[in-house]
Amino acid sequence: MTISTSDRRAITSHPIADVLAERWSPRSFDPTAEIADAQFTTLLEAARWAPSASNLQPVRFIAARRGTAEFDAIVDTLVGFNQVWAVRASALVVGIAVTAGPDGTPYRWAEYDLGQTIAHLSVQAHSDGLHVHQIGGFEPQALARHFGLADTLVAVSVTAIGTRGDAAALVEPYLSREVADRQRLPLDDLVLVFA
Ligand SMILES: Cc1cc2nc3c(=O)[nH]c(=O)nc-3n(C[C@H](O)[C@H](O)[C@H](O)COP(=O)(O)O)c2cc1C
Repeated sequence: MTISTSDRRAITSHPIADVLAERWSPRSFDPTAEIADAQFTTLLEAARWAPSASNLQPVRFIAARRGTAEFDAIVDTLVGFNQVWAVRASALVVGIAVTAGPDGTPYRWAEYDLGQTIAHLSVQAHSDGLHVHQIGGFEPQALARHFGLADTLVAVSVTAIGTRGDAAALVEPYLSREVADRQRLPLDDLVLVFA
């Protein structure tokens, strides 16, 4: 049996750009799909061109493709719930916030800026026919130890990138989540003031 997840477009209350409505976070990555050098580099380039406070760009990435020791090391730091599916991604990108400058000045917007880079990467990936699933469930200290990150380099997220496979390959509870209705809070709950 094949379970199609080809149309998971958001049902929006107002029109938004196709790339934003169509983007979603699958767990059913095709374990045979590979990402080419140029394709992977394009995603990182999209991240590079995200805006940041004072253009400080307080972000760094560890980018690793499946089949490398670095990929396996990142997988080892994921919590079990995420390991199960993320191991099938074509690549993993660790998003790292640079929390302070060389003189110790805190970079107050580092995590905010990092989030914008991953949003850029996600939109580029979707536009290139790939899918992205961000992950907060991992062990940042273990990851920092393995890659020898300085104290000012804080691993905030891991982003799985790949090609959607057959959702039927997923077991529960992943399968139900893969096909569940996509939901958001009503816009009226989010916008406190609309003048
Ligand atoms: C910072 C962040 C951390 C996340 N952590 C996890 C995670 O650890 N495991 C997981 O399966 N999904 C994780 N997600 C994915 C979200 O659950 C998902 O984006 C959300 O449910 C909305 O679904 P959509 O992206 O398909 O619209 C994370 C997303 C973000 C942005």
